[in-house]
Formats: sequence, C-alpha cells, structure tokens
Amino acid sequence: MGLAGLVLIVISWLALGRAEDVANWHQGRRLGKETVSHLHFYFHEISNGNNPTVVKVGGPQKIDPSTLFGTVWMEDSPLREGPKNTSALVGRAQGLTGADDQAKFGLIMALVFGFTQGKYNGSSLSIFGRKGQSDPVQEVPVVGGTGLFRMARGFAMARTFLLSPDTGLAIIEYNVTVVHYESN
Ligand SMILES: *[C@@H]1O[C@H](CO)[C@@H](O)[C@H](O)[C@H]1NC(C)=O
Ligand SMILES: *[C@@H]1O[C@H](CO)[C@@H](O)[C@H](O)[C@H]1NC(C)=O
Ligand SMILES: *[C@@H]1O[C@H](CO)[C@@H](O)[C@H](O)[C@H]1NC(C)=O
Repeated sequence: MGLAGLVLIVISWLALGRAEDVANWHQGRRLGKETVSHLHFYFHEISNGNNPTVVKVGGPQKIDPSTLFGTVWMEDSPLREGPKNTSALVGRAQGLTGADDQAKFGLIMALVFGFTQGKYNGSSLSIFGRKGQSDPVQEVPVVGGTGLFRMARGFAMARTFLLSPDTGLAIIEYNVTVVHYESN
C-alpha cells in the first residue's frame, strides 16, 4: 500500500469517527426473538351493585334503548384464568368503551389488558377496535404492548360466556394471539 492509500484510510477513519459523533443519537439494534404467544382468560365485569367494575361516564340526553348509542363507560374489570369468580386473577382490563353504532348495539373498545401473574406480570397489551355484539365470536385487534409484549401485534377473539342483566354480570372468554419480540 502506497502513501496515498494510507492517507485515504486515515481520512476515511476520521470521517467515520465524525459521522459516528454526529449520528450517535440514533442506533440500529437487532430485535429479540420473534415469539407468538397465546393467552386464554376470562373477563369478569359487574355493572350493578355496590362494587361495579364498569361505570357509565356519559351519554346523550335522549337515548335509544336498543343501541345505547353515545354512551361511554370506564372499565376496570378483573381478568381471571377461568369463568368462576374465585378463579385466579391474571390481570385487569382498564380503559374506555363506548356504544358507537346507531343501528344496533356495538362497542368501540380502547382497553389495556395489564397482566399481574407469572411471566407476564407487569406486561400489558393494548386493545383497540370494534366489538360488533351480534357475532357469536368477536375479533378485536391488539395494537401494541409493554414489557415482554413490546411491539406486540395480534388479535383477540371474544365470546360471551355469561350475561346476566339481573346481576349485571358479564363474563367474556378471550383467546389472544400476539406476535412480539422477547429480548435475550
Ligand atoms: C361468586 O359467584 C357465586 C356463584 O355464582 C355467587 O354466589 C357469589 O356471590 C359471587 N361472589 C362475588 C364476590 O361476586
Ligand atoms: C407482580 O409484580 C409486582 C411488582 O413487581 C409484585 O409486587 C407482585 O408480587 C407480582 N405478583 C406476582 C403474582 O408475582
Ligand atoms: C379459545 O380457544 C380454545 C382452545 O382452542 C377453544 O376451545 C375456545 O372455543 C376458544 N374461544 C374463543 C372465544 O375463541
């Protein structure tokens, strides 16, 4: 290698060094291992009584009883491993739901499923989408997550297990499938 070559190497090394100095506010990193997780649990909601897990926060003056269109609720309901109210708590569903359909009862859901058990304790999934109540099994997108569920995307399949207008009890079975990246 001639002197010119050596000079070129030194110059490019200097230039690279400079480039690194100015560019170190961003960095590329490899993702962890792509993982598909499947979760199965039951959402337990109580709308009546002294300790409701869902409360109405607003709605129109004149309400259509068949659609409840315009009604908004705040939710903080337990997620349990099974359909019994004594079944192990695995997390909570917290957030907003609202009746958004003028033709029939349908819900827009903006909920965070925060898990409190086992491996996923402290991790959460963000659910955002519509739940058309007329289908026997309803699909809602999973749009993100935190903790072990960072960058999660997927879908939740929901089916009503029990609906009791007298007691205000609603138990919904959920199967959630998410793709996420577990860091090493
Ligand atoms: C749990 O469910 C049982 C039977 O369905 C019921 O009798 C009981 O009141 C419920 N307990 C609570 C805390 O809701
Ligand atoms: C979940 O994590 C919290 C905070 O780290 C901790 O206090 C709690 O005991 C954990 N729960 C379980 C069931 O491991
Ligand atoms: C959830 O998955 C289980 C096992 O595959 C299945 O038996 C059940 O019907 C599913 N429920 C829903 C709501 O998708």
